[in-house]
Amino acid sequence: MKRTRIIELLQGSLVGQQVNVKGWVRTRRGNKAISFIALNDGSTIHNIQIVVDLTRFDADLLAKITTGASLSVVGELVASQGQGQSVEIQASEIEVLGTADPATYPLQKKGHSLEFLREIAHLRPRTNTFGAIYRMRHHMSIAIHTFFHERGFFYVHTPLITASDAEGAGQMFQVTTLDLDNLPRTEDGQIDYKEDFFARHTSLTVSGQLEGEMAALALGGIYTFGPTFRAENSNTPRHLAEFWMIEPEVAFLEIQENMDLAEEFIKYCVQWALDHCMDDLTFLAEHFDKELIDRLRFVLDKPFKRMTYTEGIEILEAAVKAGRKFEFPIYWGADLASEHERYLVEEHFQRPVIVTDYPKEIKSFYMKLNDDGKTVRGMDVLFPKIGEIIGGSEREADYDKLVQRAQEVGVPEKDLWWYLDSRRYGTAPHSGFGLGFERLLLFVTGMANIRDVIPFPRTPRNAEF
Ligand code: 4AD
Ligand code: MG
Repeated sequence: MKRTRIIELLQGSLVGQQVNVKGWVRTRRGNKAISFIALNDGSTIHNIQIVVDLTRFDADLLAKITTGASLSVVGELVASQGQGQSVEIQASEIEVLGTADPATYPLQKKGHSLEFLREIAHLRPRTNTFGAIYRMRHHMSIAIHTFFHERGFFYVHTPLITASDAEGAGQMFQVTTLDLDNLPRTEDGQIDYKEDFFARHTSLTVSGQLEGEMAALALGGIYTFGPTFRAENSNTPRHLAEFWMIEPEVAFLEIQENMDLAEEFIKYCVQWALDHCMDDLTFLAEHFDKELIDRLRFVLDKPFKRMTYTEGIEILEAAVKAGRKFEFPIYWGADLASEHERYLVEEHFQRPVIVTDYPKEIKSFYMKLNDDGKTVRGMDVLFPKIGEIIGGSEREADYDKLVQRAQEVGVPEKDLWWYLDSRRYGTAPHSGFGLGFERLLLFVTGMANIRDVIPFPRTPRNAEF
């Protein structure tokens, strides 16, 4: 008999029919005559109740039905007499597909701490919390692809192994096949990368942007959606060493429209979560963050506040004058720390903020220089509880200015010749941004730690699974 997923069974249209369900036992309770098994198959956060008349099954089989075991059950789907569920299955056949020894199975009781669950990241998808998060990751991915597809953007696959560190976005992980115990040396004693796999020094990419720009200057609008790697040693609840980034890049788009795109994009994703993930959101709100759903609706309601970096600094300086304490100093030219970003968003404006026109010194060389010669057309989107969720800019389209910026920040032109070519041949105004996928997930799930919104987090000293 063909298996039916629990999400379909719970819709109730199959009441009165024989069905086959397969899943994992969440709990088993009952008395000497009857057992109630809560079975979950991952298709939804909800379990289906299996009613087992103990006289109909042999004791050996029944003994194996413990929390974590996987079962195949055949029986009639009936309207439930008990409270808490609309339908249940009266079991007529049960097969135990896999046992889970209660003496060692780690997920015996409900309410394990998130810290404990990180230590068993291979089993945590079996919990309600991580089932919800895995499903929401999926739905947000579909939302992202749908958003761009509907607007005529093309999905472009950029390389993960790169020879350039042009972005300067973070420390890079080196990729090599050289024998670290026996490194080939050049005559002057340097490591001889000519002997390495790619005959040069290579790393894992920190961003697909530079290659994405090449595609945008041919296809018009593109986006990337892939993993990126940063070896920065920042052990915070918002940083991963391996995270996923979405990077749209659009030809003929200037900074104002880039902001419009970013705002429309995030709102679309949040709306999608409300439209497609309500069961999971309700669970996460109940267990982790009572204000979650209100906060999602709140973001949709109001336009994001837009302001320049200079205006932001003025507001922060005024706050300091009025007695607000920050850990990091505030002055024109300083990079905004997370505490500053969150002050602007959560306390001052009480809504998402887009900050533009940063001092060129604290932003990447490729951002378009403003006429003042001091600031660049960068933009960061700042979110409640997260801080920076998007970073982007209008790009410098002028060859000479770009070369000059590259020289000023010390990006070697020999690594960058192909990027510069795009400004020599048919250059055009263009803009783009990067959304940190896990930062978006933090926002839509209400989870507090980025380690809990990716299946197998990679952080300093942690790559177990
Ligand atoms: O601001 P970032 O460094 O921008 C770029 O990489 C540009 N190339 C994007 C572009 O213009 N195409 O990173 C973009 C976003 C951040 O706003 C943040 O949401 C996320 O990526 N991010 C991280 N997420 C998790 N862990 C980290 N270590 C992250 N670093 C950045
Ligand atoms: Mg940034």
